Amino acid sequence: MPRLLAIETSCDECSAAVLERTPRFVAARSNVIFSQIDLHRRFGGVVPEVASRNHLEMVTPVVEEALEKAGVGFNDLDAVAVTQRPGLIGALLVGVSTAKAIAYALNKPLVGVNHLEGHLHSVFIDGQQGCERLGPQNLPLLACLVSGGHTNLYLIRELPPRGLGAEKLSESRDDAAGEAFDKTAKLLGLPYPGGVHLDRGAKSGNPAAIDFPRALPGRKNMEFSFSGLKTAVATELKKRGFEPYGVGASWGTQPDPAKLPQGKELADFCASIQEAIVQTLLRKIRIALGETGARGLAVVGGVSANSRFRELLATDVKVPVFFPDHQYCTDNAAMIGAAGIFMLERGEVLKGAELLAANAFSS
Ligand code: KG4
Ligand code: ZN
Repeated sequence: MPRLLAIETSCDECSAAVLERTPRFVAARSNVIFSQIDLHRRFGGVVPEVASRNHLEMVTPVVEEALEKAGVGFNDLDAVAVTQRPGLIGALLVGVSTAKAIAYALNKPLVGVNHLEGHLHSVFIDGQQGCERLGPQNLPLLACLVSGGHTNLYLIRELPPRGLGAEKLSESRDDAAGEAFDKTAKLLGLPYPGGVHLDRGAKSGNPAAIDFPRALPGRKNMEFSFSGLKTAVATELKKRGFEPYGVGASWGTQPDPAKLPQGKELADFCASIQEAIVQTLLRKIRIALGETGARGLAVVGGVSANSRFRELLATDVKVPVFFPDHQYCTDNAAMIGAAGIFMLERGEVLKGAELLAANAFSS
């Protein structure tokens, strides 16, 4: 069965994984992720140049660790897969150059993977609870990709090893759902990236405490819009006498607890913001399920790790729901290798001169 090394450096995670084709779909023999979050936190967001420089330092040790954990060497590989687009161009270039060098030196093909295709393939990695039942009976499959950069609904018509035949049904007109989590969390003075902190903070809060807007409520509208939420949260903070953090603040200033909600009030903000985002996602998912007659739902990308989202999806959706394990929700090389291994099987690879000419693309 084919085996490949996969590399992902599109944003602030430096990751490498070893994947093997299995009779069902694909198995991850290792999935090493070095997150740069600590490096970017003091800037309140990802600084592209800092990201590229760190990828350059980390990519070799991360690749070595992925091979070691899988118990294989370079010569045991049949191909190298890498995220080619979309992402931060300097960050992508580190992964693409590394993958090209390894593939060329080994005289093996290179597989250039689209990051979004990678997220969509995260539910097909073997051994994940729940995903083991995903099969032809779930086609067509509705896929909801919710990350820091995207909020897209797709209709998937085919299963791997075929191409998914994914048709994009809708996207966000402005901010992505993860971006909405991160930006509103920042206004509350929570650390970057805010999604997971908002999720935690919401646990002791009342989701009905503050009525934040849920945009584009049309009965058949599958599009998303989250940019208004930032303004609504900032306005509510000001109305209560607080100073939204980061608005007009110069770099390096720490959030001042005296100027921001604390305790139960903070928890209520977190729970109400999370509810507005998650209920909007759910409403659009229900519309898309109705419009397409999909027989299953896959929810992928960083925001699919959200606990309230998972809780509501388990009770409010009538079709079987599939989530990746947490390690495959946020950016990781295993999902890139999962998409890549099926591309390899279909012969969608780069060799020789084509391999040497392979580039990275920001969009
Ligand atoms: O898929 P991902 O790692 O990167 C992109 O491709 O964008 O997603 C990162 C996003 C961030 O916005 C982060 O705040 C969000 O996923 N996220 C969460 C949670 N964990 C990660 N959002 C809400 N609740 C979570 N538990
Ligand atoms: Zn991603």
